[in-house]
Amino acid sequence: MREGWVELFDSLEKLYASEGSDFARDAQKILIESSSLLPTKQASLAPACRHLPALQRDSSALSDLIISLSDQFSWGYSNGAKANQQLSENLAYVERIGPTGMIVDSRMRIGFFLQGPKISYLKHWHPAEELYYVVQGKSGWAVDDLPFQDKKSGDWILHRSMQPHAMLTYDQPMLALWAWRGDLSTAAYEIVAS
Ligand SMILES: [Fe+2]
Repeated sequence: MREGWVELFDSLEKLYASEGSDFARDAQKILIESSSLLPTKQASLAPACRHLPALQRDSSALSDLIISLSDQFSWGYSNGAKANQQLSENLAYVERIGPTGMIVDSRMRIGFFLQGPKISYLKHWHPAEELYYVVQGKSGWAVDDLPFQDKKSGDWILHRSMQPHAMLTYDQPMLALWAWRGDLSTAAYEIVAS
């Protein structure tokens, strides 16, 4: 079981190294430093985890690793989603590393994100700068007032601090990596009313 985690951290470190930005290098450094630490949080499920079986198998080695370890994650749902029943039942995230993460670290939040099929994650924003990587699931991504652009497995998406952004899914759930840096507070997280 521990081997899977080592393999996953190794894959994540290599992936962030390949992206090349300062942000990704910061994430890689923290992943290396925390790779041998054991989580201090119990595994738990969120309602949106019912979409996990619908994720595609064999889409990539990284995707399969995440899926195989997903029952050991502490899944929760985002602050913004708590006021919206459809979002709270269809969005879930894991903070693997972070101030409130499975591994406590005050410098960044790094984890996994799951969005169920045919869901519009309404426009939202937060103080932290954010880097996403689509693991699987063709999905639409929008920033500011620009139209949605389709992204697919292997695409990176950067959101600046307080930049409004939104994501929508089609027939398949979307699995992604996410990372926050800078101001990691969640008090200023806002989401538009549905
Ligand atoms: Fe965000």
